[in-house]
Amino acid sequence: MSIIDLRSDTVTKPTPGMRQAIANAEVGDDMSGEDPTVNRLEARMAELLGKEAAVYACSGTQSNQMGLRVHCRPGDELLIDETGHLANYEAGAPAALSGISVRFVKGNGGLIDVPLLEGKVRPDDQHYAVTRLVCVENTTNLGGGRAYSLPHMQRLSNWSWGMGLKVHADGARLFNAAEAQGYSVGQFAALTDTISVCLSKGLGCPMGAILAGTKEAIRHARRSRKQFGGALRQSGMMAAAALYALDHHVERLAEDHAAAKEFAREVAQTPGVTLDVSAVETNLVFFEIDPTWGTAAQFVRELGSQGVRMLALGPQRVRAVTHLDVTADDIRVAAKEVARVLAAGPAVSSETSSNAAAGPYAAGPLPTHASVTPDRVQSRN
Ligand SMILES: Cc1ncc(COP(=O)(O)O)c(C=O)c1O
Repeated sequence: MSIIDLRSDTVTKPTPGMRQAIANAEVGDDMSGEDPTVNRLEARMAELLGKEAAVYACSGTQSNQMGLRVHCRPGDELLIDETGHLANYEAGAPAALSGISVRFVKGNGGLIDVPLLEGKVRPDDQHYAVTRLVCVENTTNLGGGRAYSLPHMQRLSNWSWGMGLKVHADGARLFNAAEAQGYSVGQFAALTDTISVCLSKGLGCPMGAILAGTKEAIRHARRSRKQFGGALRQSGMMAAAALYALDHHVERLAEDHAAAKEFAREVAQTPGVTLDVSAVETNLVFFEIDPTWGTAAQFVRELGSQGVRMLALGPQRVRAVTHLDVTADDIRVAAKEVARVLAAGPAVSSETSSNAAAGPYAAGPLPTHASVTPDRVQSRN
C-alpha cells in the first residue's frame, strides 16, 4: 500500500538533488568556525533576514531556546500565546534551561495582539518576575497555520519595544508565512530582536534551524548552543542541504498552500466534519470530527489503515499538513479517503478515553513518560 503521509511537514526526506548537495559539501570544523558551508549558510540567512548575524542550530527547539537565553535571566518571564510551541512542546525548556517562567495569553488562532498584553507586564516590584520578552509564532502551529501580517506585527513590536520588552519570533514556518502574506522574510524579521527559522519543515532539510539577531546576540547564542550540546563539527553536510533548499524549495511553498486550500475545500463538504476553509492560510489544515462518529484518534487510526496518515491533536481535532513529499493528486486521494472513512459509519472501538491516542498536543492531562508511545513521539512537530 502506498502511504500518503500528512502528519507533518517534518516527514519529508531529502530529494536526490539535496542528497547530491550533501555529498558534495565542502566541510571543516564548525566549532572552530572553519566549516565554509556553515559559514556560507549563516551569512546567507543573516542577509535574507536582514540581521547582523546568524547561527546554525540542530533543531527549532534548540534555536528557540538559544533565543530565549539571549534575552532572559533566571527569574524573568516571557509572554506568549497559550498554544506557543516553545512554551508548551519543548519539554519545559524555558524553565529547565534558562529559569524563565511563562505567562500565557489567549490569542486568536495562535496570534497575539496588543490589547491581550496590556496589563500583563509586571510592575517593578520585588514580588514579581521581571517581564522581559514577548514571543510570537509565525506561522502558528497549534493555532492553525495562521500568519502575522506586517501591520499586525509592527503594532505588536512597537508596543513591546515601547514597554522595554524584547521580541523573539519562532519562525519555524517563516517562509510559509512570507509566501502567504506576500512579504519577504527580512521584512518580518525586522520587527523582531531574534528570530528562529526551521530548515527541516517546509524547506525539506533533514535537520537544522537558524537563529538570527545582532552580532552580540548571536555571540551569546553560540555559547548557549555549546551548553545545550549543539555545537557541531563537520555540519557543512547539513548546511549544504539548507543552501540547496533555499535555492529550490522556497518558491514551491505556494504549491503546498494551494494544495492545503483545495484539500480543505473538499473536506469541508464532507458530512461529519467541521472545517473553516477561510482559516486555512498556509500548509496546515485543522478540522473537527463530529463526536457522533467517534474521536479524532479513532478517525486517524481508520484513515491510517487505508494508507493516509494524519494526526489527532485533540479529542475531535485532526491536523493534515501539505509538504514537499505529497503531490496534488495525493491530496485529492486523501480528501476522498476522509469522506470514505466517515461515510463507512461510526468507528467501532473499545477506546473510551478521547485523549488516549491524541499525543502531547491534546487537551487534558498529559501522558506520563511511561505511557509515551512511538506514535506520540512522532506527533510533536
Ligand atoms: C512552531 C514550531 N516551533 C518549533 C518547533 C521545534 O522544531 P524542532 O522539531 O526542529 O525542534 C516546531 C516543530 O515541531 C514547531 O512546529
